[in-house]
Amino acid sequence: MSKGKKLLGSITGISIVVLFWSIAYWLVNLLFPILGIVTNEYVKDLLVGVLGFLLMISTIYLIGKLFHSHRDDVFHIIVDAIKQISKGNFKVKLNLDRVNKGHPFATIATSINNMAEELNEMETMRQAFISNVSHEIQSPLTSIRGFARALQNDDITQSQRSHYIEIIITESIRLSKLSDNLMKLTSLESDHPFTAKPYRLDKQLQQIILVNEPQWLAKNMTVEPILSEVEITADEDLLNQVWTNLLHNSMKFTNEHGTITISLELVGDNAIIQFEDTGAGISPKDQLHIFERFYKGDKSRNRNEAGSGLGLSIVKKIVDLHHGTIEVKSKIGKGTKISISIPSRYSKR
Ligand SMILES: Nc1ncnc2c1ncn2[C@@H]1O[C@H](COP(=O)(O)OP(=O)(O)OP(=O)(O)O)[C@@H](O)[C@H]1O
Ligand SMILES: [Mg+2]
Repeated sequence: MSKGKKLLGSITGISIVVLFWSIAYWLVNLLFPILGIVTNEYVKDLLVGVLGFLLMISTIYLIGKLFHSHRDDVFHIIVDAIKQISKGNFKVKLNLDRVNKGHPFATIATSINNMAEELNEMETMRQAFISNVSHEIQSPLTSIRGFARALQNDDITQSQRSHYIEIIITESIRLSKLSDNLMKLTSLESDHPFTAKPYRLDKQLQQIILVNEPQWLAKNMTVEPILSEVEITADEDLLNQVWTNLLHNSMKFTNEHGTITISLELVGDNAIIQFEDTGAGISPKDQLHIFERFYKGDKSRNRNEAGSGLGLSIVKKIVDLHHGTIEVKSKIGKGTKISISIPSRYSKR
């Protein structure tokens, strides 16, 4: 404790003693004549001393009790709120009116309110996630069950039989892709191992185009690469997933004979990668949501082309991990351009 504080404490203590002894002196001198008590100065002084002491002790006791009970009250409210949260009730909200701002309890109560709010948000997201996953699992399962039942019918033709089998295969591939994407997303959201090393991004994009050649050739598409030589320090496997998802989208949402242009250039310290197609385009309303998990634009798309709406959320997550940005420009019926900017040298932040 500093000297100043000590001095202030002593002065306050002496003032309190003087105050109570003065009250006692005043009381004794007021009451004795009224009550007709006559006594000598020694007894009077003794009484003033005892009364002053008693008054001081009882006042300190009363004030202490008042503060103590208020503190206990707030303490119990806080403990009760924590118990509620631990039982899964995240709608708890502590009323801060009774706690002075700046008091340590006010800080604790505000932190508890913030924690409950965040937990409540996470709980809502968790429930939405489970309901989306169940829905995504349910629809292929329903069609697999339906077509398997139809196959039990001996009266169907050979071509119907192969058509039903084809649907069952497509739907089971969809299920397995869903589980694969869910695993990827969960792993990216927890502590995914991130290994950034230098490599040639133009070669990687060229490779992606080559690997997917059978698919775009089957749709009579043209894929045009405009790739500058760019070396980047990044996680090669993760970025492979980004380019694959973007190219798959462009192939999926573009009709036969369409064109996909993939460009790469270095602007300042950033690698700019663009995937542009002449496909169906995305409405302005859908553009606001396409990076959300499970969001699928046009609900009436072809069964064979249906995805789970996770591809772009995975892309966004990986781009975020690289401290990059992603932008979409699109016009219905004209095409879509997805532009990604990634720092060419990854540095931890
Ligand atoms: N190149 C594109 N052209 C037109 N629409 C697109 C394009 N890319 C994405 N979209 C729209 O954005 C939505 C979300 O895309 P995303 O890749 O996340 O899901 P998906 O392709 O439907 O399913 P998944 O990728 O899980 O198989 C798509 O359903 C589609 O409506
Ligand atoms: Mg996709």
